[in-house]
Amino acid sequence: MQLGFQAELALNYRHAYHAGNFADVLKHAVLVALIEAFKQKATPFSVLDTHAGSARYLLTSTEAEKTREFASGIKPLLSVAQMPSLLHVYLNVVRSFNPGGNLQTYPGSPLIAASLLRANDALVACELQPDEARKLKAEFQNDARVSCHQRDGYEALRALLPPKPKRGLVLIDPPFEAQFEEYNSILLGLKHAHQRWPTGTYAIWFPIKLRQDAEAFYRQVAQQPFEKVLVTELLLHPANTALRLNGCGMVIVNPPYRIEHSLGEILPALGRALEQSRYGSNEVRFLKS
Ligand SMILES: C[S@@+](CC[C@H](N)C(=O)[O-])C[C@H]1O[C@@H](n2cnc3c(N)ncnc32)[C@H](O)[C@@H]1O
Repeated sequence: MQLGFQAELALNYRHAYHAGNFADVLKHAVLVALIEAFKQKATPFSVLDTHAGSARYLLTSTEAEKTREFASGIKPLLSVAQMPSLLHVYLNVVRSFNPGGNLQTYPGSPLIAASLLRANDALVACELQPDEARKLKAEFQNDARVSCHQRDGYEALRALLPPKPKRGLVLIDPPFEAQFEEYNSILLGLKHAHQRWPTGTYAIWFPIKLRQDAEAFYRQVAQQPFEKVLVTELLLHPANTALRLNGCGMVIVNPPYRIEHSLGEILPALGRALEQSRYGSNEVRFLKS
């Protein structure tokens, strides 16, 4: 396979170093809220996970132990008693992979999605990195609802949409190794995907270091012919330095009806559990409504 510079860079990334960190927590809490919203109707739906990772991460691995990012992400959240019910749904999925109550395993996005899907719903998971893709395929080899592909997730947006069933959502969760080029790939991918499947819901994770970079991304998304776009942000620190990951966000194109209300409960709860200073912040707002 001939890979471009951006793809080569992206393949350096290993999610094992970051599994269960605050960025995963925001992303997976939003993913759970979206999936539960689709489950409000009895008709089946599809999930396409364009950058799926390996699905299951051992928090005792050398990689996870090196950064211990989960210790300021999923770990403190698990000990919060009072939370919105959708966060309990998310945490119960995480607990289901840690039966003794001792946090050792963190489920990635495809495993969280598959845990919540019903018998007739479908999940398509794409992963480009060969080792991760092999683990992903092994994880779901006995689950007929899930199909896994070793392929470029952006290319999958053109090749695999609209999905069957033709109702559902796409999670776009790239590694952002090639920083600004990744935004261009996302915007182009979204454009093609929306042409093929205008009614699909698209949830895109992105890092926030500097406020102006996030706002530039929002302006570009708002220029696209999407009818409704919602954005959620979770900032642990003010977005005023490019030297660290101050926070992250999710842009949601075609958000399910009234999801802003559930996210409006989830985000402050995550903020209370995870923000590291009084300068942390969180918000849910429409970029287009
Ligand atoms: C942030 S991680 C995904 C984490 C996963 N979505 C989760 O929430 O558990 C990004 C993944 O994308 C993979 N990747 C990088 N470039 C890709 C591409 N062009 N297409 C598909 N996967 C890619 C990386 O190998 C990595 O596993």
